[in-house]
Amino acid sequence: MITLLVGMKAILLAGGKGTRLRPLTIHTPKPIVPIFDRPFLHYQLDLLKQVPEIDEVILSLNYQPRRIEEIFGAGDSAGIAIRYVVEPAPLGTAGAVRYAGESLHESVVVFNGDVLTEVDLAAVIAMHRERKARATIVLTPVENPSAYGLVETDRQGNILRFLEKPKPDEITCDTINAGIYVLEPDTFDRIPTGMPYSIERSFFPSLIERSETFVAYVDRGYWIDIGTPEKYMQVHRDIMDGRFKPRHGSPFNGAPAAWVSPHARVEEGVELTPPCFVDDGAVIKTGARIGPYSVVGRQCHLEEHAAVERAIVWANTRISQDATVSRSILGRHCHIGRRAHIDDGVVLGDKSVVTDYSRL
Ligand code: GDD
Ligand code: MG
Repeated sequence: MITLLVGMKAILLAGGKGTRLRPLTIHTPKPIVPIFDRPFLHYQLDLLKQVPEIDEVILSLNYQPRRIEEIFGAGDSAGIAIRYVVEPAPLGTAGAVRYAGESLHESVVVFNGDVLTEVDLAAVIAMHRERKARATIVLTPVENPSAYGLVETDRQGNILRFLEKPKPDEITCDTINAGIYVLEPDTFDRIPTGMPYSIERSFFPSLIERSETFVAYVDRGYWIDIGTPEKYMQVHRDIMDGRFKPRHGSPFNGAPAAWVSPHARVEEGVELTPPCFVDDGAVIKTGARIGPYSVVGRQCHLEEHAAVERAIVWANTRISQDATVSRSILGRHCHIGRRAHIDDGVVLGDKSVVTDYSRL
């Protein structure tokens, strides 16, 4: 008898609208918002590639799928085979898993499309098999679980309770759902089809009700959900400080660096304070200042005496003379007028125009 070893599949849930990251996600779906110079999904694919058994990633999409397909294609540049499943309408997190996993028979890894972590995925899969679990989920401790799925376990790591977005008086522990699961496809037939169904609010609680083997893998390493402007800025700071070390390498893995692309043009008399990042084709004029924790995207222009500090500026944006941008995120192709002043949590969508002398 010949046994065919079928590779394991991973489903990446990347169909949400990214509402909390608006206006950035109006033209750029959350899975491909840039982290420095790379679309976010690359960082997740880097992690999935650590498990040689995973031979294909199924991207479960709904919102602006074409934009994502254009970047990743069949996965050649990412180094792992990618297939796309586009829902006719959003089916919720469980509905999306069923829809994308219809043809699967082996244990499947499922990932929320907006989490960044260095969890040992092979160890999670090994534990799932050892415990003969119907579902295994990765948990991470956080200070405030209210924005996440709270998960209570017993000492043996069995899941006792799953409560999505708990109210303050419902918080009983600090471990939350990290958005990474190993699931058994023969449980998917319980997910109703043709209607939205939530893995967090309905599917997981149903496993507990049926007393099925549903276990937790607690990971105390780096973890973040990039889904809000604050967290999106934080992930950049964490990489610049070396708290998260991207697997493909990063100029920030050693001492704090002021990294300037060899294809950027930085004139004499520019002040660069590390850590910061200036991408290909950027033009930085005399007297401009790039302060710590700043990211200046591809083909951006900083004119004379313009300043950015603790700000993330996407590609092709122009910051005119004497303008300052701090603690804010600017989308692509924005125009910031002379002496304009942008500070403290401003998020501008693509093509925003801020006139001379404006204060935001
Ligand atoms: N295909 C598809 N279809 N994907 C979806 C849909 C859908 O209808 N709805 C959401 N998604 C995707 C999103 O794109 C995202 O990658 C993931 O599912 C989770 O959705 P979020 O909207 O980011 O959820 P959340 O951050 O509020 O909460 C989830 O993640 C937390 C960890 O970051 C929950 O899983 C929580 O329990 C968890 O703690
Ligand atoms: Mg999220």
